[in-house]
Amino acid sequence: MDQVRKGRAVQIGRVLITREEIETRVREIADQISADYADRNPVLISLLKGGFIFLADLVRHITIPHEVDFITVHSYRDGFTRSERIEILNDLKRSVSDRDVIIIEGIVDTGHTLSFLERMLEDRQVRSLRVCTLLDKPSCREIKVPVDYVGFKVPDVFVVGYGLDFMERFRNLAYIAELTSASAAPEEKESGTAAEAK
Ligand code: IMP
Ligand code: MG
Repeated sequence: MDQVRKGRAVQIGRVLITREEIETRVREIADQISADYADRNPVLISLLKGGFIFLADLVRHITIPHEVDFITVHSYRDGFTRSERIEILNDLKRSVSDRDVIIIEGIVDTGHTLSFLERMLEDRQVRSLRVCTLLDKPSCREIKVPVDYVGFKVPDVFVVGYGLDFMERFRNLAYIAELTSASAAPEEKESGTAAEAK
């Protein structure tokens, strides 16, 4: 991991979650949200940029009326580095006061980003607040944050794909893979070879 941090020479490693597994799970979560929020017109807030593909797939399977909005939060992390300093880069376009809100996240790691967002939304007096994340790294949690809908739990490795990046790359992968240091190849690869078949 340290080598990866310093060298930035990375490649796609093991595929942890395939495209098919993601598709199935996203449908299940959409069904659950549709049942839980019938007649409530929830606002789904996608946390950019990591949550954008998840939101796009999720809403296409949600069968109840709902709205979407986007927020961009910068958490001062450079690649792998964790930080607790968080700032809003792009705020919501509408008031969420007295609304049922669901935050749609790509991954919850330390919990600092979510905790910040939850406090901000509570201050704006939402009616209810739940969190939906595709991936959860519970072993890395530094702040306790309730997560209501979880796609998959992942171990403490750096993952990319399906919206999640390493220095803005690899968001386009249709699967979730572990990022590893490229011991042989000095160039970063955009997509894996064996993994590409998945
Ligand atoms: P937290 O504040 O530590 O929970 O971090 C959440 C944010 O860190 C996510 O929204 C991601 O942008 C990023 N992040 C955490 N772990 C990973 C990872 O394994 N791959 C890609 N991004 C990650
Ligand atoms: Mg990122």
